[in-house]
Amino acid sequence: MNERIIEKLKYCLKYEKKITFLVGAGLSAESGIPTFRGKDGYWVSGSKNYKAQEIGTYKMFCENPEEVWKWFLYRKSITEFAKPNTGHLMLKEIEDLLKDNFALISQNIDGLHTKAGNSKERSFFIHGDFDYVRCGYECSKELYPFPKEINLLNRNKDVITEEEQRYLKCPKCGKNLRPHVLWFDEYYDDYYYKTDKVLKAAKNTGILFIIGTSGATNLPQTVCFTVLSKGGTVVEINTEESYFSEILENKQNGIILREKSSDFLTELKEEISKFM
Ligand code: APR
Repeated sequence: MNERIIEKLKYCLKYEKKITFLVGAGLSAESGIPTFRGKDGYWVSGSKNYKAQEIGTYKMFCENPEEVWKWFLYRKSITEFAKPNTGHLMLKEIEDLLKDNFALISQNIDGLHTKAGNSKERSFFIHGDFDYVRCGYECSKELYPFPKEINLLNRNKDVITEEEQRYLKCPKCGKNLRPHVLWFDEYYDDYYYKTDKVLKAAKNTGILFIIGTSGATNLPQTVCFTVLSKGGTVVEINTEESYFSEILENKQNGIILREKSSDFLTELKEEISKFM
């Protein structure tokens, strides 16, 4: 393990600084879930009739909720049966070791951190969570569990039945429910996406591990710059170049590792357990 990382981990534990993990689709790739911008990524394939940046919008939800739900039910049918991989399980064990020194900022909506056992208190799902739905017209801000009556096994991405559409009605106002995900034409907020808590954690972070993300969205970028501006160390773990590589390359507090997420997290867990 890189000596600078070990030194910084010891510093964080001594001075009660956060050891923060900012993760993306690359972490779940090893669970068989497509990434977004990879070769067969969601943003590359999109749906039968629409580009992802069209169908993943509140505008499309209002104009054509059926088309939007067809596509999100198809994506949900992939995450529903996926299992946490070694990377997720190591993050759980690292949280158990670090307790309140630990923070997890995840862009993934696949629910695999929850399945792996990471706590709700120290995990921030900044793009939403597929395990919940909410009123598409905000008659209330309540999050409802995803309707279990909807069959997700072997889903055809071009079909949604009338019965299924009935389960996707708001129990309070009867209007369409929506998946609890952040869409392209929407902004981060603290109520649904925990932005204030995420930035507070970033300000108190001694070392940030950025794992399996291309860095295409702005709150993760802000988290990185906030940690660097506070003198924190930022480590990128990615099998390829990302938005963060260029930023960290010339930074004294930047470290770039071209590794798979599960390999790195296994080694890190071993290292941390040595001095706990
Ligand atoms: N280990 C480490 N990194 C990996 C692995 C792996 N096993 N497999 C893939 N990667 C890296 C890729 O090199 C890529 O940089 O994961 C990254 C995945 O990038 P994207 O597909 O762009 O996904 P992500 O960064 O999570 O997207 C961010 O964009 O549109 C939004 O809401 C969407 O949450 C998503 C956000």
